[in-house]
Amino acid sequence: MTATPTPALEVQGLNRAFGALPVTRDVSLTLQKGARRALIGPNGAGKTTLVNLITGALKPNSGRVLLNGEDITNVSQTVRARRGLARTFQINQLFRGLTVLENLGLTIGERDGHANNMWRPIGINRVVLDEALDYLDALRLTGDALKLVRELPYGRQRLVEIAIALAQKPRVLLLDEPAAGVPSSESHLILDVVDRLDPDIAILIIEHDMDVVYRLPRRSPCWCRARCWSKARPTPS
Ligand SMILES: Nc1ncnc2c1ncn2[C@@H]1O[C@H](COP(=O)(O)OP(=O)(O)O)[C@@H](O)[C@H]1O
Ligand SMILES: [Mg+2]
Repeated sequence: MTATPTPALEVQGLNRAFGALPVTRDVSLTLQKGARRALIGPNGAGKTTLVNLITGALKPNSGRVLLNGEDITNVSQTVRARRGLARTFQINQLFRGLTVLENLGLTIGERDGHANNMWRPIGINRVVLDEALDYLDALRLTGDALKLVRELPYGRQRLVEIAIALAQKPRVLLLDEPAAGVPSSESHLILDVVDRLDPDIAILIIEHDMDVVYRLPRRSPCWCRARCWSKARPTPS
């Protein structure tokens, strides 16, 4: 008899309301190591709220979040990130006045706990530089390394955000509408990159645009379209 593997991520009966508006209602999901899942729902359905609950940006009213079998419901965002939970944002959170390389250097420094020494890291820290260049190479961004983020087309900024999430060495990666704001002629770049990520990372892609979900490349073993739930509605009084 084979033992059931511990899921990379487990969400159990998560609930969250904003005042009278119940947004997350008894949401449960499981991601095994290496899973590829898409969670779909229209604008306002509560997708970003769910990501915020999983990553600890918001506290649930009830329910639990487990990462590799450990209950992290009451653990801070920073510790969750250190334990291997990374996300990207619907609207990117990059330092637009810094170069791509500096953005990555700061992330790597933060991850390794020497952020205070990282403000001018790139010219002097060969190890950080090499690691950052590896991520950029994997995402075909090497040519943009020394450009300011704000100089890049939005589609490439979204790739930088994925590079930053990867620099956290995640075991679970939550991508909140990674192609949002990107012209459809460029969004295939993002979807290809997502499809080529380390097969051991469990990935949940959150999306409202069904076109994007249906355009996810089919090389991955299972891009399951998890489910769509209806728009949040206030509880009738
Ligand atoms: N911090 C908040 N305070 C109050 N209402 C919120 C907050 N965050 C989200 N909401 C509401 O929760 C609902 C779901 O929002 P959101 O999770 O951003 O949806 P989605 O990402 O699916 O578009 C919306 O009605 C939104 O206005
Ligand atoms: Mg959202």
